[in-house]
Amino acid sequence: MKVKKWIALGLVLVLAIGIAAGCAQKASDDSATTDSAAKPKIGISMPTQSLQRWNQDGSNMKSAFEAAGYDVDLQYAGDNDIPTQISNIENMISGNCGVLVIAAIDGGSLTEVLKTAKDANIPVIAYDRLIMNSDAVKYYATFDNTKVGNLQGTFIKDALKLDSEKGPFNIELFTGDPADNNVNFFWGGAMDILQPFIDSGVLVVPSGQTTKDQCATPSWSTEESQKRMENLISSNKYGPDGTKLDAVLSSNDSVANGITNALVTAGYTDKDFPILTGQDCDKTSVQNMLAGTQSMSVFKDTRTLADRVVKMVTSIVTGTEPEINDTETYDNGTGVIPTYLEDPQVVVKDDIQSVLIDSGYYQPADVGL
Ligand code: BGC
Repeated sequence: MKVKKWIALGLVLVLAIGIAAGCAQKASDDSATTDSAAKPKIGISMPTQSLQRWNQDGSNMKSAFEAAGYDVDLQYAGDNDIPTQISNIENMISGNCGVLVIAAIDGGSLTEVLKTAKDANIPVIAYDRLIMNSDAVKYYATFDNTKVGNLQGTFIKDALKLDSEKGPFNIELFTGDPADNNVNFFWGGAMDILQPFIDSGVLVVPSGQTTKDQCATPSWSTEESQKRMENLISSNKYGPDGTKLDAVLSSNDSVANGITNALVTAGYTDKDFPILTGQDCDKTSVQNMLAGTQSMSVFKDTRTLADRVVKMVTSIVTGTEPEINDTETYDNGTGVIPTYLEDPQVVVKDDIQSVLIDSGYYQPADVGL
């Protein structure tokens, strides 16, 4: 009798534990369903894998989204290949991504494909570069692009003491790919500072190439900027023993690297190197700053931008308004896109340790330290 009682009690217990476990399993299934319904898959389309910054942007965003519990479909468009970017985006739409984050190769080339996103109610966040002529674009997250140009122009102004010296100082000007909307702001921001000195004759551009189009670098390519700098060197006889070249404005590091290559080949060393600007703090440029063959770079911490985009998406998903701090500057042709601008920062040789290494952005070995 006693034995039977224990067996019965045991059975009841096993049953109870089974039901409890089942319920727990069901509860967790339910929460998984609710969770994944609330957290859509995020499609991230990056322009190229051949430039360090976009690899970092892609992987920073992927980890930040995954840490916040999202599934991620991260795709790169070959080496700045527009048809590949369009088909990446088509795949993300048909693959059930619920939000798209896109750094466009060419801001004007996504209008058609984004109509499909709009029809499927998929919100699009323009990442770093504004996407033009599409009302699927709901928000824009970037660094203050005008300030990037201002910082570069101001660096040259201060280094040459343009406010007090008469010069004339010789300068050549380089910017990026004109299909990248950011170029308007980088170029505009730098020329706001430099143009008055060109007008007054304190700064002279010996090549006479002073328009944005004349100073453009297709695809932001190092080879293209190197070629153009080599041509400028030979046509203007620049060199340590030739025509004096005081400064070169470059909108970013990939362009600056080509300029550095050409100037080093022309015989310039860290002792007489022209002032040269950049942007991104790419590893090669950090090494060039350490070697004295690039003067500065503008640091845009890709970790900050990735976190910003995760916050934006979380707000969209939970039905609240994302935080924005610019509602005036970025009109994409369909209206002004609400934007969050992160703050860029100048880095020179002496800041490398504190800004780039101590913050964990780079390991010393990444930049040859
Ligand atoms: C980005 C820069 C980058 C350049 C070339 C621009 O749109 O803002 O950080 O150097 O593209 O990839």
